[in-house]
Amino acid sequence: MSQYRPLAAVVLAAGEGTRMRSTTPKVLHPLCGRPMLLHLLDALVALPLDRVVVVVGHGAERVTKTLQEHLATEMPIEFVEQRVQRGTGDAASVGLTAFPDDVDGEYDIVILPGDLPLLRPETIADLARRHRESDAAATLLTAVLDDPMGYGRVIRDEQGRIERIVEQTDATPDELAVREVNPSIYCFRRGLLAPALRRLSPENAQGEYYLTDAIAVLRQAGHQVIAIPAADPAETMGVNDRAQLATAARLLRSRINLRWMREGVTMVDPDATYIDATVGLEPDVRILPGTMLEGRTVVGSGAVIGPDTRLVDTIVGVEAVVQNTVAREAEIGDRATVGPYVSLRPGTRIAADAHVGTFVETKNADIGEGAKVPHLSYVGDAEIGPGANIGAGTITANYDGRAKHRTKVGARARIASNTVLVAPVEVGEGAYTGAGAVVNRDVPPGAMAKGVPARIEEHWAERRDGRDTDAGG
Ligand code: UD1
Ligand code: CA
Repeated sequence: MSQYRPLAAVVLAAGEGTRMRSTTPKVLHPLCGRPMLLHLLDALVALPLDRVVVVVGHGAERVTKTLQEHLATEMPIEFVEQRVQRGTGDAASVGLTAFPDDVDGEYDIVILPGDLPLLRPETIADLARRHRESDAAATLLTAVLDDPMGYGRVIRDEQGRIERIVEQTDATPDELAVREVNPSIYCFRRGLLAPALRRLSPENAQGEYYLTDAIAVLRQAGHQVIAIPAADPAETMGVNDRAQLATAARLLRSRINLRWMREGVTMVDPDATYIDATVGLEPDVRILPGTMLEGRTVVGSGAVIGPDTRLVDTIVGVEAVVQNTVAREAEIGDRATVGPYVSLRPGTRIAADAHVGTFVETKNADIGEGAKVPHLSYVGDAEIGPGANIGAGTITANYDGRAKHRTKVGARARIASNTVLVAPVEVGEGAYTGAGAVVNRDVPPGAMAKGVPARIEEHWAERRDGRDTDAGG
């Protein structure tokens, strides 16, 4: 492809996104667990582009920082700042300052806004290919919509050639009736765009420099401008408000789900399955309705997840079963069973073949291989040995009001119902506790710890309050 000029992209992302009514810059609002702008940058970095320049402005520092956190380090993205948001034409001019002025630095530049989370790399590649093949000054994607409301309309001459673009706010009633719109996805020859931008004027309804006016400027100068209808108009959907954010998220979600189903994942109801773009699934995973898989969650083959389960940054082993569970930063081993109604908090590691059952909460806990915590327990800052059994109602009292302490239960120990393990404490291998025991000293291996003779202290409340309770009222 050496006969072509190098290809670059400029993303306009300096606007405030007023219609979101948010303190978060528009392009940082997440869809399927990834900020809006990242979805577009993912598409751009999938292409052979020489450079990607992002024009930031509103919330510049936050936008730049978030992008740098999420982007793979090898992605060469440059940032330029548009200090005052004077319109898309001005933003494009600012973007061009990232390119050197010398003549041999000629480029074809894809220009697009940061609010296009559904755009596919193939669509951008196709636009660039058609632009180069026709050697046009500008090539734009267009979409024919049933409801063109809000978009700039594409105005063609009698020969059907693109003449100009008119904004919603500046259009006549006849122009408003046009259903062919400008989704703002263009490819320009830099050497022709730069002078066209210098000729823009802000004499329009919004008092802004419109990038869209560059089309008319180029046409009037006799240059070729071509339009390519988008193969899938849904892809060109821009997000301006929360309703469009929800619509775009739904489309993205169904795309993600379709991809996983094609890779061998079963979804009983894809419309009730929510998988972040960053999640990894193996074949033969089965997902039941109401499941949300978020962040860096990974699920091994043959696992069954759901119904009504939310896993955040959680690793699930092969053939595990996880139902009605909320887990964050947890690890669930191969063939382990979790739920229903379980909360796994950060630092929970459940080994292979273990079971954590109904109404159990864990945090910073290692549950050993084949161990069981079947019902109604709190296991925090604890290590449960392999094959141990934790009876219903057992609680690790890990907090003494000042600090957290650890509990250790040895392999194959049997902790009876309603035991309170007062940490720091250790129950030895194969040891037992009796029902209701309060264990605050270490239990040697093979021993039994039983009883809590509750000592009655009469008139305790009166003494505490320093007054006669009978006189109360
Ligand atoms: C723009 C187009 C309109 C098109 C629509 C598609 C113009 C004048 N109009 O309108 O024809 O149908 O997109 O969504 O271009 N931005 C900056 N700096 C600015 C202003 C905007 O970086 O000074 C960025 C915004 O962050 C945004 C993009 O440019 O990502 C588009 O701006 P927006 O205000 O959303 O333009 P629209 O009114 O939607
Ligand atoms: Ca827009």
